[in-house]
Amino acid sequence: MTFIPSLHAILPRLVMVILAAALTGCQRAPSAPDVDTFLKHHWQDPLPAQGDPPGTFSALEASLAPEACGTCHADQYEQWRSALHSHTMGPGIAWQLELLGQEEGNKCLRCHAPLAEQKALVARAQGWPNAPASAPPAYVGETLADQGLICAACHVRQHTRYGPPPRTPPAEGAPHGGFIASEAFQDSRFCAHCHQFPEDGPRLAGKLREDTYQQWLASDYAGKETCQSCHMPDRKHLWRGIHDPDMLRRALDVKLLLTPMATGRYKIEIVATNQGAGHHLPTYMVPKIDLVSTLHQPGRKPRELGREVIGWKADINISTEEFDTRLPAGASRTYSREFVAPKHGPWHVELRVDVAPREHYERMFQYSLTQVDMSETARETLQVAIQEASATRYTSLTLQARP
Ligand code: HEC
Ligand code: HEC
Ligand code: HEC
Ligand code: HEC
Ligand code: HEC
Repeated sequence: MTFIPSLHAILPRLVMVILAAALTGCQRAPSAPDVDTFLKHHWQDPLPAQGDPPGTFSALEASLAPEACGTCHADQYEQWRSALHSHTMGPGIAWQLELLGQEEGNKCLRCHAPLAEQKALVARAQGWPNAPASAPPAYVGETLADQGLICAACHVRQHTRYGPPPRTPPAEGAPHGGFIASEAFQDSRFCAHCHQFPEDGPRLAGKLREDTYQQWLASDYAGKETCQSCHMPDRKHLWRGIHDPDMLRRALDVKLLLTPMATGRYKIEIVATNQGAGHHLPTYMVPKIDLVSTLHQPGRKPRELGREVIGWKADINISTEEFDTRLPAGASRTYSREFVAPKHGPWHVELRVDVAPREHYERMFQYSLTQVDMSETARETLQVAIQEASATRYTSLTLQARP
């Protein structure tokens, strides 16, 4: 569906978009493109530069800066600022960009800072070849690349705004020449551009390293819930995921059962169910969830009975799989262990659910700190990245069972 609030304002640019479409060899005009066709244009790789803003735009309307959008779209701006999408150019990627060349670096930027204007700024900062010689124009500004996955990366092409079908009819003569509405914004394929590797993308043990869209498509949620309905409820720009304890608790149901066996032995059973993630839990190899069971007696140090890990573990180079214990959407797994119960006094068993949202990066960063040759600035950035990554750890739940 295409919704044009102010056809008048947008018409000259629509013509421009159609021309661009013709130039890139697409058959259909964007007046009513299907979702696939829309997204093929919207997420071209690499994205073409916006070009000069229309002469009718004020400096505020022309600006690609998120804080400019935020002067009018205050809610989305506040939410986005607290979301990981506004941190996609943090220290975790910054130290790596310094070591990668332009070609490799731009591959990362496709998802971490996708606009041509952002790539040009990174090229300038890194001193890469083909970096623009002059400072960016005012509508770009100096900090656009550091701000990561900005509003304009998802919503602005050739200075035209694109968004979902409006919930209330917008007023005549809206700023920035109105907008073009597309149902693509409510489709999981919109997110797949960055949350799904293509078929020929990198694999581990035959499995695509990033496969969230396909996992969702194969789940019972496909056709009922989208990425947006779970991660942007009420169109909120928060995108909470495994870094958020509440979101994790929505996904993972854990039960602890204690059963007496023969001759003083007991059995614990831990039932873990992916009851709420619309894809594997976790979806890829970075996070790990530890289920740690311990035996407690008054006045004694707790004794670890067992540790199960939910996750997909690879070595640092991602060349060898150690294990894959992710829970597909809806799947359940039972872990059981037997132990000899203390003969005297009270005791109980405790189960703790420890979450490390960036476990793979913590290991990879630590290794790089000692093994990889890099500049002093890169090393300092890496140290901050290590702190940031380990600070994301949390305990999501503790359960107790008594005989
Ligand atoms: C001067 C104020 C102003 C600025 C600056 C502004 N917008 Fe808007 N924008 C509006 C208004 C008003 C509408 C119409 C919304 C309505 O009436 O529902 C709108 C509509 C939109 C829509 C369509 C919403 C929908 O329902 O699909 C999107 C997307 C959007 N703007 C994105 C942006 C982005 C991204 C920026 C910054 C690059 C930006 N806007 C800057 C005022 C502004
Ligand atoms: C296809 C899109 C895509 C590409 C290409 C990509 N990333 Fe990412 N990256 C992601 C997504 C999605 C996440 C977050 C996943 C999650 O939290 O589950 C992420 C997370 C990260 C993180 C952890 C978060 C942080 O900011 O510390 C780092 C570091 C990172 N990527 C570095 C890189 C580097 C370096 C490259 C290039 C070699 C790269 N990425 C290429 C999509 C991509
Ligand atoms: C990762 C991509 C992405 C980024 C970044 C992003 N948005 Fe959105 N935005 C969307 C999607 C997708 C929707 C539609 C969600 C839906 O319909 O469920 C949307 C919806 C909107 C709407 C319509 C809201 C409504 O209530 O109808 C506005 C306005 C908007 N975004 C503005 C912004 C602004 C401003 C920023 C930056 C502060 C921003 N967006 C950042 C993807 C993005
Ligand atoms: C039924 C609701 C639901 C749907 C549909 C859904 N998610 Fe999630 N997602 C969650 C929950 C809950 C979590 C937190 C637990 C977890 O990490 O899996 C999560 C976590 C994530 C994470 C965090 C990283 C990780 O390793 O798990 C990413 C990235 C993500 N989702 C992206 C997506 C994308 C992209 C789609 C669409 C293809 C999608 N999600 C569809 C509920 C959903
Ligand atoms: C242009 C690339 C891009 C697009 C499009 C995109 N994302 Fe992301 N997303 C990322 C990157 C990169 C990260 C990693 C942020 C970080 O950790 O630094 C991320 C992180 C996330 C997370 C946080 C997961 C966590 O670890 O807690 C969720 C949830 C998520 N995205 C959902 C979505 C949804 C839903 C959509 C579609 C509306 C979407 N994303 C579209 C690139 C993208």
